[in-house]
Amino acid sequence: MNDINAARLTEYSEMTNTRLLRYKERYGGKESDYQHEITEAMWYSLMSGGKRLRPALVLDFARICGGDVQAALVPACAIEMIHTFSLIHDDLPCMDDDDIRRGKPSCHKAYGEAMALLAGDALEDLAFQVIAEDDRLSDEKKVKLIAELSRAVGTDGMIGGQVIDMDNVNGAVFSVDKLLDMYAMKTSALISCACRMGVICAGRFDMLGRAGEFGRQLGLAFQITDDILDITSTTEQLGKPVGSDREQGKSTYAAVMGVEASEKAAAELSQKAEQALGGFSDNGFLMELTEYLLRRNK
Ligand code: IPE
Ligand code: IPE
Ligand code: MG
Ligand code: MG
Ligand code: MG
Repeated sequence: MNDINAARLTEYSEMTNTRLLRYKERYGGKESDYQHEITEAMWYSLMSGGKRLRPALVLDFARICGGDVQAALVPACAIEMIHTFSLIHDDLPCMDDDDIRRGKPSCHKAYGEAMALLAGDALEDLAFQVIAEDDRLSDEKKVKLIAELSRAVGTDGMIGGQVIDMDNVNGAVFSVDKLLDMYAMKTSALISCACRMGVICAGRFDMLGRAGEFGRQLGLAFQITDDILDITSTTEQLGKPVGSDREQGKSTYAAVMGVEASEKAAAELSQKAEQALGGFSDNGFLMELTEYLLRRNK
């Protein structure tokens, strides 16, 4: 990534982090009240250093579509809350049973299973609240953003994909087509939603289809790379346990096709993503981000 784009990615991440911390002051329980623990659990997971990919997509799509990037910060934070909720629940013993997330003990390891479950629930709720209570976006945009996000999270989106993945244990054999269908739901739905939310913030509804297509292909490449890293990386580098998929006996693209073929598939999907970006001017940051994510090591 060139220096300008790297600085932009850092700026998006810092903007997101600053706003998320402000939300803790505004919406978090007070030190003395009995909501203290859940507030700590929510922001423990939220602030433990994710890549902030989804907020960056919201913010940059808003920017290249001529929108107000500051106003897009609200949906950017909202989708990061949803994503963090999905990770907290994904790590629970009844799901992937992973003890490390973002380089720290998983939420349920730090706060117990019940509090982790509730912290995930509360983050999902807060995501919709911050959009609804924002005073910069029009009511029309807020309704569209809430519809977009709720659809991407639900049984046709991320949660639906996680449901399919719950059958993917103990040596299950999934075809490549089934894996890609599952990835489209569990991973692409939110990534695609992030892109579309940026477009909605800018009011460029004519660009929703292209942005969604970019996110869909990027999400597939992203999940295949995640599967590869589960095999090739280290827990220290990744900040989450490697070998988790194998331990659970999961079919993944990388397990079924091998690492080399998976790298090729991820590269091809990234190219399709880049093609979808063709219709946008000033798309240099997103082009480079797509390449950067393909070569990431965490
Ligand atoms: C992890 O997402 C879950 C997947 C969809 C593969 P990220 O790799 O974006 O996780 P963070 O936000 O950087 O921790
Ligand atoms: C998770 O896929 C996708 C979610 C919706 C959370 P994984 O289970 O592979 O994600 P990691 O590897 O735990 O981050
Ligand atoms: Mg999982
Ligand atoms: Mg997992
Ligand atoms: Mg994984």
